[in-house]
Amino acid sequence: MQSGKPCSTSYLIFGAALREGSLNARLASLAASVVEQAGGAVVHAKMSDFDCPSYDGDVEIKDGIPAGADRFRSKLVSTDGFIISSPEYNASMPGVLKNLIDWVSRYKPQPLKGRHALLLSASPSMAGGNRGLWALRVPFEHLGARLYPDMFSLAQAHEAFTPDGNLADTKLQHWFEGTVDCFVESVEAAKHYPAMKSQWIEFLGERPTPATERVEVTEVQPV
Ligand SMILES: Cc1cc2nc3c(=O)[nH]c(=O)nc-3n(C[C@H](O)[C@H](O)[C@H](O)COP(=O)(O)O)c2cc1C
Repeated sequence: MQSGKPCSTSYLIFGAALREGSLNARLASLAASVVEQAGGAVVHAKMSDFDCPSYDGDVEIKDGIPAGADRFRSKLVSTDGFIISSPEYNASMPGVLKNLIDWVSRYKPQPLKGRHALLLSASPSMAGGNRGLWALRVPFEHLGARLYPDMFSLAQAHEAFTPDGNLADTKLQHWFEGTVDCFVESVEAAKHYPAMKSQWIEFLGERPTPATERVEVTEVQPV
């Protein structure tokens, strides 16, 4: 870590495209190597690991939450944070990712609450898929994830990588590493600050009723 202190945090990292040769999988893989260089532990995954049928409340009642969402939940709760590199489809997030978020939000306790997250994107376009990340922040923030304020969107991503998976532009590589390092340091700080508490109320501002009330409060224990 930049601070020189040992790193004790772990991260689920994956690209949110299903296709082989995904640019977002390559950016996720680069993020994983930066986390590992910082001393963090990485749980690698692929979007296909979390494949789920379209959310259907009847299927949920009949068959329960599907195995893909359960794998996502268990990787979320066994790590300190997650990094997703997501494609932008039509100025928003991919439907498969939103569908996964919808399924995993059905667990109680709700596993995205309090999870630290960094969002990345890669696209051949000049904006690098950044609009999709602003859309993706909404469900994650709604579910109480602690989203890192900075995001990284790799423009012209089809031309941006070296054969060994780094960014060809050395300044961009430096900025990318800095963003990932700072995210890791913030997760370390949050994990070890003994008095940190968190509270998530799904419909904050509404008069409490049994039908809508969903509240989760935790206190992080001193390490
Ligand atoms: C249905 C669809 C919609 C897309 N919409 C956008 C878009 O709004 N903005 C953008 O930058 N790229 C868009 N693209 C291009 C993707 O950014 C590009 O295919 C990218 O390589 C996808 O990520 P991947 O390489 O990780 O699969 C779109 C692609 C598809 C298939």
